[in-house]
Amino acid sequence: MTRFTKVAGLTALLLAGASASSLNAQTAEVLHWWTSGGEQAAIAEIRKGYEARGGEWIDTPIAGGSAARAAAVNRMLGGDPATVFQFAIGEQLRELADQGLLADVENVAAGQGWDDKLPPLIMQAAKHDGKYIAAPINIHGENWMFYNGAALEKAGVSVPKSWPEFIETAQKLQDAGIIPIGLGGQPWQERILFNSVMLGVAGRDFYARAYSTLDEDLLMSDTMLKVFETFAALKPFVDEGSPGRRWNEATAMMIDGRAAFHFMGDWAKGEIIAAGIEPGSSVGCVFAPAEDLAYIMTVDVFAFSNIDTDAARAAQEKMAGVMFDPDVQIAFNQKKGSIPARMDIPNDSFDDCAQYAIKTIQDPNTHLVSTGLFGVPSSVSGAIDDTISNFWNSADMTPEQGRDSFRQAIANAK
Ligand code: GAL
Repeated sequence: MTRFTKVAGLTALLLAGASASSLNAQTAEVLHWWTSGGEQAAIAEIRKGYEARGGEWIDTPIAGGSAARAAAVNRMLGGDPATVFQFAIGEQLRELADQGLLADVENVAAGQGWDDKLPPLIMQAAKHDGKYIAAPINIHGENWMFYNGAALEKAGVSVPKSWPEFIETAQKLQDAGIIPIGLGGQPWQERILFNSVMLGVAGRDFYARAYSTLDEDLLMSDTMLKVFETFAALKPFVDEGSPGRRWNEATAMMIDGRAAFHFMGDWAKGEIIAAGIEPGSSVGCVFAPAEDLAYIMTVDVFAFSNIDTDAARAAQEKMAGVMFDPDVQIAFNQKKGSIPARMDIPNDSFDDCAQYAIKTIQDPNTHLVSTGLFGVPSSVSGAIDDTISNFWNSADMTPEQGRDSFRQAIANAK
């Protein structure tokens, strides 16, 4: 075809209403829950990468992870699937694959050599029947304790190294008129705080065994009673406005000093960065008090609805390639507050907190999994969140009753 006929062909298509960009564009509708300031800034980097490669992006943001995940699944079941949707690797994504709802991106993964570039735990969890069903872009840690340095200084306290020390510190902060813990009172956020307490009080081996086996003796142990006693001791240190608060509003309380501490995944760092603050400066980041070094991981991915058209497959494969592109992983994670899923990306592109995380996970013994979407089936994950939230919000449940309800709910959900 001569240049002239090509131009004529293009003109004809343009006249027929096809936009130039859609001539060869792979159009992807992307359903996700990245709606906070930091999350929006981060996903914009993926969109930029996708559009730079000729893709057309239709954005479908839905606030709140559980709402967005329900929408993605309902649309697949209802025959109107989003091309691509945000999820996390682990048991819950596997459940969708078991139902035949997902397409694989094995062609792209094999072509880009994902196997050699991902930590083994993530590589295995991103596959179903030996094929990649998700494109991992990051690793988030959930057992972070962010703090406002000025708030601590005002109360004359320092960063606590143990949970008993934290409780003493929190009392001094409260006496100084500062909210010790900025918390969003939603089950998944309360569970993040609980799991940090469990890691700190029971240790990383107990955490790993309890959640991987769901063994009733472990869940009914004196160790678990100590976890519930410590968790209960934190209740007086949040403000009455906590119930229902969105996580990024709780992050903002810590950033502006209304609250001293904030126990959250390091997506909170995305808000700190979006606020123009260098993490580790006026706002500090340490792991929640624990003797063992450990990282409770959750890994964000895009997954791909099982749509039987060439156009959808082309868009999905393009998106998978963009998600794994090293430049996109750097640009996204710098704004998201997480670290790249790929192991071959130099650390110096990231803030001090992220570099500490990267250094920590070099030791596979530190790898723990979130009970949100990663390490347990959806029924068990829901039981964990619900019983922890019921206990946290109950004025009269004893720690023994909390532990018993936790064990019972998990036994019923298994
Ligand atoms: C998590 C997700 C993070 C962040 C957080 C709060 O499930 O891994 O990327 O979005 O939800 O929205």
